[in-house]
Amino acid sequence: MPVTFALLLLLGQATADPCYDPQGRPQFCLPPVTQLAAVAASCPQACALSPGNHLGETCNGSLTLALGGSFLLTSVSLRFCTPGPPALILSAAWASGGPWRLLWHRPAWPGALGGPERVTFHSTPDPKATVVASHLRVEFGGQAGLAAAGLRGRCQCHGHAARCAARARPPRCHCRHHTTGPGCESCRPSHRDWPWRPATPQHPHPCLPCSCNQHARRCRFNSELFRLSGGRSGGVCERCRHHTAGRHCHYCQPGFWRDPSQPMSSRRACRACQCHPIGATGGTCNQTSGQCTCKLGVTGLTCNRCGPGYQQSRSPRMPCQRIPEATTTLATTPGAYSSDPQCQNYCNMSDTRVYMSLRRYCQQDYVLRAQVLASEAAGPAWRRLAVRVQAVYKQRAQFVRRGDQDAWVPRADLACGCLRLQPGTDYLLLGSVVGGPDPTRLILDRHGLALPWRPRWARPLRRLQQEERAGGCRGVRAPTSSPRPEH
Ligand SMILES: *[C@@H]1O[C@H](CO)[C@@H](O)[C@H](O)[C@H]1NC(C)=O
Ligand SMILES: *[C@@H]1O[C@H](CO)[C@@H](O)[C@H](O)[C@H]1NC(C)=O
Ligand SMILES: *[C@@H]1O[C@H](CO)[C@@H](O)[C@H](O)[C@H]1NC(C)=O
Repeated sequence: MPVTFALLLLLGQATADPCYDPQGRPQFCLPPVTQLAAVAASCPQACALSPGNHLGETCNGSLTLALGGSFLLTSVSLRFCTPGPPALILSAAWASGGPWRLLWHRPAWPGALGGPERVTFHSTPDPKATVVASHLRVEFGGQAGLAAAGLRGRCQCHGHAARCAARARPPRCHCRHHTTGPGCESCRPSHRDWPWRPATPQHPHPCLPCSCNQHARRCRFNSELFRLSGGRSGGVCERCRHHTAGRHCHYCQPGFWRDPSQPMSSRRACRACQCHPIGATGGTCNQTSGQCTCKLGVTGLTCNRCGPGYQQSRSPRMPCQRIPEATTTLATTPGAYSSDPQCQNYCNMSDTRVYMSLRRYCQQDYVLRAQVLASEAAGPAWRRLAVRVQAVYKQRAQFVRRGDQDAWVPRADLACGCLRLQPGTDYLLLGSVVGGPDPTRLILDRHGLALPWRPRWARPLRRLQQEERAGGCRGVRAPTSSPRPEH
């Protein structure tokens, strides 16, 4: 039992990271104190001389030791092979060439010719008063032969490491708190939202991650943004991937739009705009809706069709052209409505202008140009017209041929003035899909229209006809009646 306990204790110590508290919060940590350098005598000839004789010149004055890296010195021991120098001054510099900082000043030993053969300097345990040194200078107040200098201390890891390869040159700290560098003197590329700072026992000052929505691995610290944020965040993401852009990779690159069904951190958060090469003005679309910028008259998310009042053209510059206003409006004369109360609300022709859009065209059963030749009664409800069909603009399911044939009109529709037909006159006939009792009959009734023919209508009607052939009526349903078979 005691053995098991001891083992667990050892394991616990091995896995615990001194740079984090048991709750996983970062805390100030230091690497252990180690022997940093054991400098052999730099003037060995001095030791060969017997006391009293002249000493080597190198040992007169000062001696500088380069430590090969930055260390926190805790103690310096000097051993002399002669009586110690009458006075001794130790100084340290954190970089080559100084400035030098006085560590220890030993005035002349009173009444003695030489000092002790061993001297040890200890730095204070106060971490604020630590001695950071990369160079050490020993100044003799006279002559002495130095046999060895022993230095102890820790790697300078700025409170961010508890382990260090102290013998490496430069010494390498095992950096924690998302710091990096030989002495943990900077933040890792992904953690530059705050400025780097050394850890202190009061505050560990860990490096904080940039928020890049998982689209960037690197960021840089911008002190101006940090100041503007009131000291909350200064990171700027670099090299945003997955077609994202922005300081936090939080929006989509031009040419891509934000798919609202995906979280911003998803690799598929930004989708390519699918702008039509002819219908759109460019390859970029609205970042939130995916709407491409369409040329005049073009519509659709990707700008792939003509808008209302526009029809397709052959020009890539203007793929949709306005259907000329004059030709879309077919002027009619107001009907002389009958005063018969039975005719009240019977006719649907309330306006004198008829707008012929592609939609309306598609909703007609037929569109014909025909001359009315004669008319005669055909039973109590119908009149039969002899007509000469001159042009078929919109064909019906029951095929209409050009030339002379019969058409049928309800008598009431004529009596109420819904349709005004003069024998010997050319008309534009619009057939309704309501139809009559016999589908083979060509029916003209109050749901349709008979307009005295204008030659200027021929061209727009041909164009509508071409649109229909190009599939322009697909998806346009007739308002009433059952579906008709395709012919
Ligand atoms: C050693 O230093 C002392 C004092 O600085 C000086 O008087 C003496 O001449 C020096 N000796 C040599 C050999 O340089
Ligand atoms: C993008 O689309 C949204 C929503 O459809 C709209 O509110 C916004 O104004 C559009 N932005 C631009 C630049 O057109
Ligand atoms: C009259 O016209 C309107 C709109 O064009 C249409 O909805 C309605 O069905 C028509 N009524 C008749 C009786 O044709």
